Amino acid sequence: KIIILDFGSQYTQLIARRVRDLNVYCEIHPFNNIPAFDDTVKGIIFSGSPYSVWQEDAPQVDYAAMMRDYPVLGVCYGAQYLAQHSGGEVLPSEIREYGRANLLYVDQENELLSGIPTQSQVWMSHGDTIKEVPSNFRVIASTDKVRVAAYHIEGTRTYGIQFHPEVTHSTDGQVVVKNFVVNICGCTQDWTADAFVEMTIADLKTQLGDDHVIMALSGGVDSTVAAVLLHHAIGDKLHCFFVDHGLLRKNEFQQVLDSYEHMGLNIKGVNAKDQFYSKLAGVSDPEQKRKIIGASFIDVFDEAAKQIQAELPEGVEAKWLGQGTIYPDVIESISVNGPSATIKSHHNVGGLPDYMKLNVIEPLRTLFKDEVRRVGKTLEVDPTILGRHPFPGPGFGIRILGDVTAEKVRILQEADDIYIRNLRESGWYDKIWQAGTIFLPVQSVGVMGDERTYEHVVALRAVGSLDGMTADWIHLPYDLLAKISNEIINHVKGINRVVYDISSKPPATIEWE
Ligand code: XMP
Repeated sequence: KIIILDFGSQYTQLIARRVRDLNVYCEIHPFNNIPAFDDTVKGIIFSGSPYSVWQEDAPQVDYAAMMRDYPVLGVCYGAQYLAQHSGGEVLPSEIREYGRANLLYVDQENELLSGIPTQSQVWMSHGDTIKEVPSNFRVIASTDKVRVAAYHIEGTRTYGIQFHPEVTHSTDGQVVVKNFVVNICGCTQDWTADAFVEMTIADLKTQLGDDHVIMALSGGVDSTVAAVLLHHAIGDKLHCFFVDHGLLRKNEFQQVLDSYEHMGLNIKGVNAKDQFYSKLAGVSDPEQKRKIIGASFIDVFDEAAKQIQAELPEGVEAKWLGQGTIYPDVIESISVNGPSATIKSHHNVGGLPDYMKLNVIEPLRTLFKDEVRRVGKTLEVDPTILGRHPFPGPGFGIRILGDVTAEKVRILQEADDIYIRNLRESGWYDKIWQAGTIFLPVQSVGVMGDERTYEHVVALRAVGSLDGMTADWIHLPYDLLAKISNEIINHVKGINRVVYDISSKPPATIEWE
């Protein structure tokens, strides 16, 4: 495997994606919390960083030992850091070097750059630049502005590149990553979905033995794929349940439950609508609603888990809690940037009462989202579940602005159903990262026939995104929007106006609350 040391760059996860795309396993670790390396480690990549090597608190690592024992590739800050500490000189650049550039000189004889043509486009994003390198450094690529665009330290397996091979604007970036990972480090390209499934099921069998596992499913991709893996490993000793909090899409509860049963999972549906509605009655503050939903979920979970425990044979106890945690969640929680500001308190099945003391088992904690989809495909998970848009845990609770009532949920379910069905029928659904309908806490005047109406407004939202961190609103065709708007206003009693959300993230967020 490859170890990526994270110095805090916004691109670190992209480096990991690039390595994984080569079917090579890699792990990201913060520079200040590096685990002991076992003998599966074949090479190390130093990421970029928002720091300058000149800053007093700039990230430091024990680079000499790493350079001695492993091939090392420094990217951007990583390259500057190694250059500066080896006797070179890094200075703030006079001109801002940000964006596309072309490699005017490339040493194609060098292993790292073999197969990279001159003129190859690369992506630059740096404030400092490497001005001087020591005599044992060979400059192996330059652009018109950056003489040291890449270097190799002679007699070692250490390389530095000033540009970002992980960004798609670096046209041959993947070749550079492959040269390093496969040719220089000697990694084998056998990290595939099939291999992952086989290995994980075997590991789960060993780890769990005859133990029982409890798991709450959400109908989403991650929890479903995690459950199917666990089910392959321990069969019906996995006890799943799926909660209807009354904030799901139209017919979603039954459909998802049916498809879980169809997949052979040992699943129970829990109808907790009334409990959620009564706790939410009259509450309109978004954070308070989120907290109520989170807390109510724990109550329901607790109740369901107790019931499962009660039904187990004498002397048998479920000791594990299965979760669909994926790699970005793991990285986020150990990020070197420390905790970021709480924009929204996200709801996940994390906060269990202490007394339950279940051990957590997370079979997907090393995977990125699209890898989870690939694993799901290998496991023959229902394609409609694999292709589903993300849906927030608190569901319509945060898509109904203001207080939540059963009647508002009904109105929103109808409107949302028309919207999503039209997206599917027009072929747009699969081109969109996430779409949904938002119930606005305003009424507006309209006219239907000869009658004045004074009814509610819904907003339609559709965004494109890679990971939900940033998002652009989708330019849906006017004809399609017109059709959806007509259908909603004509068929959903209580709505006389439909608007389309044309805000991107940032500065807006995907959800309205
Ligand atoms: P925002 O609104 O923060 O959403 O731009 C980013 C992504 O996260 C989803 N989201 C949630 N998912 N629990 C979840 O499981 C939550 O509380 C939650 N809030 C937002 C949102 O749907 C989008 O995909």
